[in-house]
Amino acid sequence: MAAVNVGLQDVVIAQSEICSIDGQRGKLVYRGYDIHDLAENSTFEEVVYLLWNGCLPKRAELDELCAQLVENRPVTPGLLDLLRQLPPAQHPMESLRTAVSALSLYDAESEDMSEGANRRKALRLTAQFGTIVAALGRIRDGKEPVGPDPKLSHAANFLFMLTGKVPDEESAHWFDIALILHADHSFNASTFAARVTASTLSDLHSAIVSGIGTLKGPLHGGANEQVMKMLLEIQTMDKAESYVKNLLAQKKKVMGFGHRVYHTEDPRATVLRTMSEDLGRRAGQPKWFEISKGIEDLMMREKKINANVDFYSASAYYVLGIPIGLYPLIFAVSRISGWTAHVLEQYANNKLIRPLAEYTGPRGLKYVPIDQR
Ligand code: COA
Repeated sequence: MAAVNVGLQDVVIAQSEICSIDGQRGKLVYRGYDIHDLAENSTFEEVVYLLWNGCLPKRAELDELCAQLVENRPVTPGLLDLLRQLPPAQHPMESLRTAVSALSLYDAESEDMSEGANRRKALRLTAQFGTIVAALGRIRDGKEPVGPDPKLSHAANFLFMLTGKVPDEESAHWFDIALILHADHSFNASTFAARVTASTLSDLHSAIVSGIGTLKGPLHGGANEQVMKMLLEIQTMDKAESYVKNLLAQKKKVMGFGHRVYHTEDPRATVLRTMSEDLGRRAGQPKWFEISKGIEDLMMREKKINANVDFYSASAYYVLGIPIGLYPLIFAVSRISGWTAHVLEQYANNKLIRPLAEYTGPRGLKYVPIDQR
């Protein structure tokens, strides 16, 4: 029996052309392009094209993709009715998971496994995730969903559908960057879960539902929400140190820190730190960034552990007016592009993913009749 790698740590299980991470040098690369280059110069729509097609789009190709995304943003009224009728979720990720599962029932191509149909489903899901998440956010607040505005970019339109107001240019630009940064991250837990499901040749919606269920956990996409809850409990800079030291003394994790792959700064955190500072200052609420920076410095001093993607996204989303419970769903609004790229790659060169376990339970027991136990 091969050596056991608990948590599949450091195990390479497939080849992929989509995304590479250099955990020693803090590099994240989509299809050969550094994430910092893309964050500075690109748009989310361009990155979606890149992830799905392996190259940056020419002008006409980008225009076509943008038009297709816009065209597919509205969701069927039946789905919105369903969202309104769902019992209040304990966590809105439950509602997103349910919504995407239900969406396959409205999709005429749900069981069509041809490449063309799967690419069209990837497009529809990527276009509609923002619509669904914004609608869920509004229904939770007792408000009516706001329909998409075809004139707005993917990022600006999401903020518009969520808040009912067209965002200012800076907010839309920063949110677009946040979407770029969250779009893919190689074989992270939710992408891996989606690929495992796809590897059984199950349908694309089922693979994405697996991804959503996996992203929900606090060790993955649920961390940004926990970070903001922590910041709200801390409230003032003078309480930050004792709060965090107390967590560490109890051997508890400080959310938004640490990473399985990066042994240096998470390159996404570098950009999100600036986003948090800039948006906080512009919103007249610099304290969330300041407390965050204080915690980051303390974690470096005490534990030598770096902030990850979820740490500064929390305070940035907060000052953008995004409800805290929606933070993991925002992650999904972006990551749907990466999940679908990976599922398409898995289908294109499929091998069932089925690892082994080293059995450590008892052996050789003999069945004992129930009244003799
Ligand atoms: N706060 C405090 N200590 C942490 C920590 C954190 N956020 N993350 C890691 N550590 C410590 C662990 O306690 C452990 O210490 P030990 O060896 O003394 O027991 C060591 O660092 C290794 O951590 P471990 O959880 O075993 O690493 P992992 O690779 O399995 O886990 C994460 C990676 C991301 C799950 C982990 O860092 C974590 O739980 N972070 C908080 C949740 C989070 O922000 N998730 C979003 C990830 S993008």
